[in-house]
Amino acid sequence: MLKQRKSIVGLDIGTSCIKAVELTRDKYDNVITGYAQIDVHTEAARQDAIAELMQAAKFRTKRVATAVSGKNVVFRYISMPEMGEDKMLQAVRLEADKYIPFDVDDVELDAQKLSGPAPDAGKGGEMKVLLVAAKKAVVADHSMMLTELGLQPVAVGVDGFALGNAWELGDLVNPGIQEPGRTVALVDIGATKASINILRDNLTCFAREVPIGGHDLTNAIARRLGVEPQQAEEMKRDSGDQLGIVLEAVAQTLEDLGNEINLSFDFFENQFDGEVQEVWLTGGTALLPSLEESFEKIFEKRTKTWNPIEGLKVKADNVDVEALNQLAPQLAVAIGLAAAS
Ligand SMILES: Nc1ncnc2c1ncn2[C@@H]1O[C@H](COP(=O)(O)OP(=O)(O)OP(=O)(O)O)[C@@H](O)[C@H]1O
Ligand SMILES: [Mg+2]
Repeated sequence: MLKQRKSIVGLDIGTSCIKAVELTRDKYDNVITGYAQIDVHTEAARQDAIAELMQAAKFRTKRVATAVSGKNVVFRYISMPEMGEDKMLQAVRLEADKYIPFDVDDVELDAQKLSGPAPDAGKGGEMKVLLVAAKKAVVADHSMMLTELGLQPVAVGVDGFALGNAWELGDLVNPGIQEPGRTVALVDIGATKASINILRDNLTCFAREVPIGGHDLTNAIARRLGVEPQQAEEMKRDSGDQLGIVLEAVAQTLEDLGNEINLSFDFFENQFDGEVQEVWLTGGTALLPSLEESFEKIFEKRTKTWNPIEGLKVKADNVDVEALNQLAPQLAVAIGLAAAS
């Protein structure tokens, strides 16, 4: 029935888990028509894992949208004279070597004009621009790996922006749920990092990555309880009556992570003259019981786990709906990658 409609797979190749969500869109609807995820423990195992996952998922399309992240991607905030989007990229390219730690010829550059803190922010003729630079070699390797698998990479983004796109899609399918003018922080906590995107009216005002994540929690449990990382990982995911012990073991690491994220909020609030009003958590680590409460105490802001599939239709004959619902917070980046393309 959905045959003629446009489908795309958002493929989130995380450090510890690969997530793929196929979104099929027509004029009226956004439908999840496929979903799969698979844990992957080493970089070497990644390509085979993607092949396995794509086979298991029985997607209708080979078109994939992915992201690069980590050390090879840098974000910089720069001020520039007001200008149109087309001129902006040219101007950024000319000046990029002032801001980034790589040779300009070696990077793919993207620039996004940021939502100003107030409508008259551009008074002085200045605008704030977020510059994103990713190493060309990394983007090329990434695309080649996918092409070798018979996939068709159509877009390469970054996790933080994908989160923003997932949020925008949520706004589209749940009209009225997001109050206009509100400033929200989306925080996706994976295995190695937390990606932060602060949005106002669906526009990115600020994005950053903090290099702490679920791996650090697992390591803390292993150290504290004297168990192997594998066992610590299992305890973290399903702690049953040992929940108290697990939470105690991760308390310090969680606090460090929360404080780091909070520093980003402070930076944003000082530099951009806005206030983060609520925080929405996603990523596999958001599945940790009581994360909301722990972070709410640190942030002193309303903090909730976000379900990015809320309001989306699901084609149940090709999707494990129970797993999809249970793991939904972990899928925000994959959904956003699909939504943007
Ligand atoms: N039920 C759970 N409770 C707590 N943590 C969990 C649970 N399920 C998964 N995790 C953790 O979530 C992390 C994986 O989440 P996610 O898939 O978002 O990360 P990733 O995308 O692979 O990593 P990154 O974004 O850092 O590259 C792992 O550290 C895993 O231990
Ligand atoms: Mg991730």
